[in-house]
Amino acid sequence: MNIRKVIFPVGGLGTRFFPITRVIPKEMLGILEKPLIQYAFEEALGAGIEQFIFVTRHGKTSIEDYCDHVLTHMESFDSSRCSFCYVRQGEPRGLGHAVLCARHLVNREPFAVISADDYISHSSSCIGEMIKHYDGSNMAAVMNVPRKDVNKYGIMEVERENNKTIIARSVDEKPSVEKAKSTHAIVGRYILTHEIFDILENLKPGVENEIQLTDALRQMIPTHGLTGFKFEGKRFDCGSQGGLLEAILHVSSKDEKLSSIIRNFYEDIR
Ligand code: G1P
Repeated sequence: MNIRKVIFPVGGLGTRFFPITRVIPKEMLGILEKPLIQYAFEEALGAGIEQFIFVTRHGKTSIEDYCDHVLTHMESFDSSRCSFCYVRQGEPRGLGHAVLCARHLVNREPFAVISADDYISHSSSCIGEMIKHYDGSNMAAVMNVPRKDVNKYGIMEVERENNKTIIARSVDEKPSVEKAKSTHAIVGRYILTHEIFDILENLKPGVENEIQLTDALRQMIPTHGLTGFKFEGKRFDCGSQGGLLEAILHVSSKDEKLSSIIRNFYEDIR
């Protein structure tokens, strides 16, 4: 199936990176010379997506400037086919609310969502791999996490599982370690059916008093199903200091000069 649109929810506060994120959007933090948002954009562009919708808020205009100055000038960006749209999220009220803010730009077609702070190193494009396997249900990327970490994620309960996919029986947002029904965690890549907007519109705040996308996905399981997609490649939680550091080391280790700098650094501190 052809997926033409992607939503980038970039309206979060980035509290784990205060004070720098008081003036620089979290999505503009760099893995070397490129900001996180560029990796997310390249992933979507590489998957054939044409419309890039940013759900943004005040203090985040450097993302728009970056689109104008850098992303639109990339060689693979075809301005006769591709476009950028920006919609404001007045207050950060959760991922589900951010997605709902873009409703009028999506209309009645399935669409992708990419969280730029989940950087996924992939041989081609994680969202592209998901689009190839898209089955018409709601779909979210999943990976196995240590049980002690389940309370940071949406966690799927398994109905059926095969090589690439999990058919979910249920899904819970940030369950406790004791209550989690598996260790299959959602990471920030989704392909969603447009009917999710009707559900989000009527959803009550959930965990952390936010409108949770996970709660909408759970409600839709009986009608639309929920597929967990086991992607290739490695995910880094760049919303945390440790995750961003690992991502920088991972990307650097692919460059000869930089990997020798890393090696020398470790020899020096030994
Ligand atoms: C969000 C989602 C959660 C998902 C996570 C992946 O949580 O609500 O279901 O597992 O992203 O990164 P957040 O990290 O924004 O609190």
